[in-house]
Parts: sequence; C-alpha cells; structure tokens
Amino acid sequence: MFEKVLTQHIQIPESRDIDYYMKHGGYQAFRKVLKEMDPDQVIEVVKESNLRGRGGAGFPTGVKWGFVPKNDDKPHYLLVNADESEPGTFKDRLLMDGNPHLVIEGAMIASYAIRANLSYIYIRGEFVKEARILEAAIQQAYDKGLLGKNILGSGYDLDMYVHRGAGAYICGEETGLIESLEGKRGWPRIKPPFPAIEGFLQSPTIVNNVETLACVPFIVERGARWFKSIGPESSPGPKLYCLSGHINKPGVYELPMGTNLKELIYEYGGGILDGKALKAVIPGGSSVPVLRPDEIDVAMDFDSLAKIGTMLGSAGTIVMHEDTCMVDALLNLIHFYRHESCGQCTPCREGTNWAERILKKIEHGQASEKDVDLLEEVANHINFRTICPLGDAAAMPIQSFLKKFRDEFNAHVAQHKCPLNSRL
Ligand SMILES: Cc1cc2nc3c(=O)[nH]c(=O)nc-3n(C[C@H](O)[C@H](O)[C@H](O)COP(=O)(O)O)c2cc1C
Repeated sequence: MFEKVLTQHIQIPESRDIDYYMKHGGYQAFRKVLKEMDPDQVIEVVKESNLRGRGGAGFPTGVKWGFVPKNDDKPHYLLVNADESEPGTFKDRLLMDGNPHLVIEGAMIASYAIRANLSYIYIRGEFVKEARILEAAIQQAYDKGLLGKNILGSGYDLDMYVHRGAGAYICGEETGLIESLEGKRGWPRIKPPFPAIEGFLQSPTIVNNVETLACVPFIVERGARWFKSIGPESSPGPKLYCLSGHINKPGVYELPMGTNLKELIYEYGGGILDGKALKAVIPGGSSVPVLRPDEIDVAMDFDSLAKIGTMLGSAGTIVMHEDTCMVDALLNLIHFYRHESCGQCTPCREGTNWAERILKKIEHGQASEKDVDLLEEVANHINFRTICPLGDAAAMPIQSFLKKFRDEFNAHVAQHKCPLNSRL
C-alpha cells in the first residue's frame, strides 16, 4: 500500500504550524544531519536515493549537489525554485500552502549539504498567500532556533528569506531566476559556467524545485533504500501529478513515480468529462510533446516518457476531449510562450510571434497549405537555437501537434474555417 508522505497533512490547517509539524516528526531529519552527518554524507545518501529533480529536467539531485566546490573560499547559496509557472502545473503551490515546513526543512538540509549559509525561496509573484505562509513558517523556525546562528549548538549558521518574483515565467529558468534575484532583468545566462560553479553573485549556487526539496527530509529519515523502493529504480520516489483539462476529478495526486498515465486519467481522475472520448494528453506541462489516445498506456516517469518521445517535465497532465480544436489549443499555448519570451534570443522572440500569427490565420480559416508548412519551419528554426529552453518549450508543442494532428490543421485550410467552431 502506497503511503502518501508529501501531501498527507495538507488538508489540515494546523499543518502550517511548526508545533504540529514537529509533533509529526518534523525537523527530525534536519536534527539528524546536524548531529550525525557531515555534508558529504548527506550528498551521498541523496545520490544513492536516485532522487531526480522535479522542476522539469529530471537531473539527479545528489549529483548536482556534488558539483559544488568543497574547499573554496566563496559563499555558497541554495535557491528554492518556487516560481511554478508552467501551464498545467500547480503542485508546488499545494506543498507551500499545506506543508510549508517540509519545504523549508528540505531547503535546510540541502543548504547544509552544499555548505551554504544563505538560502532564498524565490516564489512566483502571484503566490501572495503562499509567500506569507512561508514567511510565517520561516519566522517560527527562527523562533525555535532552527535557523540563524549556531543552530542547535551545531556551529552551523543558516539564514533563509522569501523573495517574491514579479510573475515572469522566464524567472523559473534557473539562471533567469538568479539574474532576477540579483536585481536584474530575468535574462537566462549562457551555460557553462553552471550555477553550481558560478551562480548567484558569481558564487556556487544550487537551484532546486520545491517538490524535489520536499522529498529530502524523508530520504534522510527513512534512507535511500526506502525511497528507491517506490516506483522505478532509475527515477524513484513519491510524485505529485497535476491533472487538469477535460477530466472529471482534476487535482494534484500523490502517487508512486511511474504510475500509468491511463490509470491516472481513468481511475484517479475519474475519466473524461461528460463521458466524451479522449483526443489528446499533454503529460508534463504545456511545453512537452502531446500524446494521442493510443499512446497513453505508459508509465509516468522520466525514462518511460522519453522513450515514447515526450517528457515528464513538471508532471502537469492536461487532458483534452474530442471537442477540442487542436489548432485553437496550440494557439492558446503559443500565445503564452510569445508573451513570456524574454526577448533575448531572436529565434524565440521572433519565432513565437510568427507562430502565433500563423496559428491565428489557420484557426480563422484564412491560411493556405503553405502556412502550415511555414509554421513547422518556424518551429524548426527555434528549436535548439536559444540560450535557454523556453524556445524549445514553444517549438516542441508546435512540432508534436503538427506531427500527430496535421489533418486537423489541413481541414482548417481546406474548409476556410474551424471545423469545430471553437472560436468563430
Ligand atoms: C522557461 C523555464 C521555466 C522554468 N520554470 C521552472 C519553475 O517554475 N520551477 C522549477 O522548479 N523549475 C523551472 N524550470 C527548470 C529550472 O531551470 C531548473 O531546472 C530547476 O529549478 C532545477 O531544480 P530541480 O533539479 O530540483 O528540478 C524552468 C525552466 C525553463 C527553461
């Protein structure tokens, strides 16, 4: 029987309170690392657990922490990526709202492991309530002597602050986030150097997603073996899946990593709205390639989804039923990426603009066959040609929608209107 650990307390209002959290074993893992483990041992156990980042890329967390230099004289920083702006994704918000101390404890342990004495939680500007909840929780941790100087007599110092963003998707990209935190425009940096070597204020910095860090206290407390016993060994652990769109029971589901997508939709999500037929599923947030109904018998983990040409990403699963116009759905997505493109790279800035204009023409029945080809060409010219993956995030849906639903684009051209009349 799968035990929910990340979300087990989230419906309980007192779970935001430090006394409630500590009564249920909270901050034991942090005490354990301070008393019994040196930073490298913490990195080792996280490496051994095979925890992979929940922010989108799935990079092994312990390996990333291991890149931080050990004997340098620079300050180190731990930045919590709480920007959560990928359409279809709303899991980090739930954790910050319902279990803020778990996120904070994960950030404390990560800070200790990478020898950081300062940590920021960079939170999406619109999450006003969650920022306040985190600030109150951090204050409680200071009051209990879990933050500040010489924590619990260990000699370790750590300060933690909440920094509110201004609602820009690009500031979720880790180097855009760092620039923004430094008070600059959130333009991503060219890598290398990677943040672990040269990040915030040119010093070694680790950026981790909220959910990634929320897994860490359990790994320390229960061990790497316990973590690896959940889901596939190459990317194990509990996983928060966000389910939205044409689904009977939308929401955040904590399940073992590798849960079958079909099961997620039909068993946990209660099936398709109004008993309609499924048309398409975006499994991992709006930037990942779309799947057809015949492709959804697949495990929702990093490797299984990569094998069929898509990605787990941020696990934002968007369900679309038979009445969805795929041209209109893509237009909706590309409108977002065009608006959120930071403008630094020409292919992304100009390409997303072009793509939106062409899609509008197709949707409104004013396009020719050449326009559909042009749309594909524009996407091909964005992909892999930008500093950060926002460009790819816009190109991949275009390419996959065209690959899997081209007939529908052609039908718009042939009939000079949207066959589903979704906008006209
Ligand atoms: C345009 C863009 C937006 C992103 N937004 C987020 C975000 O909101 N939250 C997040 O955790 N990662 C986001 N990422 C991924 C981060 O760059 C980074 O990989 C992640 O924070 C690393 O944490 P992890 O190793 O714990 O997954 C984004 C990436 C891109 C390219």
